[in-house]
Amino acid sequence: MFSSAITGLGMYLPPRVVTNNDLEKLMETSNEWIIQRSGIEERRWVDADTCTSDLALQASLEAIKDAGIDKSEIDGIVLATISPDHEFPGVGCFLQTKLGLSEIPCLDIRQQCTGFVHAMSIADAFIKSGQHKTLLVVGAEIHSKGLDKTTRGRDVSVLFGDGAGAAIMCRTEVKDPRTDSHIISTRLFADGNGAKDLWVAAPGTALGADRMSKVYIDENLHFPYMNGKRVFTNAVRRMAECLTMALAKDNYTMDDVDLFIFHQANLRINQMIAQEMKIPEHKVFNTIQKFGNTTAATIPIGLCEAKKAGKLKKGTLVATAAFGAGFTWGSALYRY
Ligand code: UT7
Repeated sequence: MFSSAITGLGMYLPPRVVTNNDLEKLMETSNEWIIQRSGIEERRWVDADTCTSDLALQASLEAIKDAGIDKSEIDGIVLATISPDHEFPGVGCFLQTKLGLSEIPCLDIRQQCTGFVHAMSIADAFIKSGQHKTLLVVGAEIHSKGLDKTTRGRDVSVLFGDGAGAAIMCRTEVKDPRTDSHIISTRLFADGNGAKDLWVAAPGTALGADRMSKVYIDENLHFPYMNGKRVFTNAVRRMAECLTMALAKDNYTMDDVDLFIFHQANLRINQMIAQEMKIPEHKVFNTIQKFGNTTAATIPIGLCEAKKAGKLKKGTLVATAAFGAGFTWGSALYRY
């Protein structure tokens, strides 16, 4: 049977830094509150002319270069986003054209903050089936254009940032699973009972005769709503739970794992998971302080930053867990 491995990584963050002090000028909030409740110090926001596929393009180019492949070797794109360039078609199609790729399939998925784990899982299955050999897997988001940047939306808007991350996933042969790069497992879960605890209601066909109308805008239905405490407690519980399950089922122990790359929604969430699971602090790599929550992009950005920091090397055993709207959650265990 075929296996898949991550052979290239790339990321792109727009250059404009937005600090907590900058947000104080837009809404009633404070640097102290944001740092204390979330750990976030700054995030990046795009300018008006930049769209999600632009960020995805830069991250993809870096991943292609890092993998040392020619872009013509890519035989499919799996792209996760909840902030597409347009309602349809998906961002993958725009990215394909910007990259100048041939008529390969371009699959857009959502799955919110677990988007990249889902994308990895799909790419792994495509490669294992023999259907694909070299996939471009992307998580890209522009949140800054869809946030309520007034005091009314402050509980959500201070948390999110823009950015993109990408990976090249290739077919590989695993001779020694204890050393060779490969995806060991991915496990995905969902519970739709939490759907309205973190969501954007409009546009939507459940709203009435029109998918979108001025009335929905007047009611702020086009902005994200979050039941922060419910999302927080479920995030801690579900990420710890799926990580424990993955390690047990794949016959690895917590000590075997060299690096934990969690979704970046709140520094306190990740600290609580680490505390609960008795993970030493130096094994958990966080980027939320600099970039906020970039949803589908947090995991590949985390991998890139960990690589730059010398924490991710060939042979490193990485455990990833993510949780997000849906609710959706999942794990990925892989040797880099
Ligand atoms: O990636 C998807 C998953 N997302 C998450 O996992 C996020 C999960 N939730 C969280 O991270 C946290 O619940 C928040 C950071 C959103 C909120 O932290 P909290 O400790 O749960 O605060 P809270 O909701 O209990 O709010 C405390 C107070 C409230 O004021 P009152 O009612 O106590 O007077 C809020 O109105 O803080 C107020 N508040 C703010 N104050 C200053 C809410 N947002 C802000 C703000 N600045 N930005």
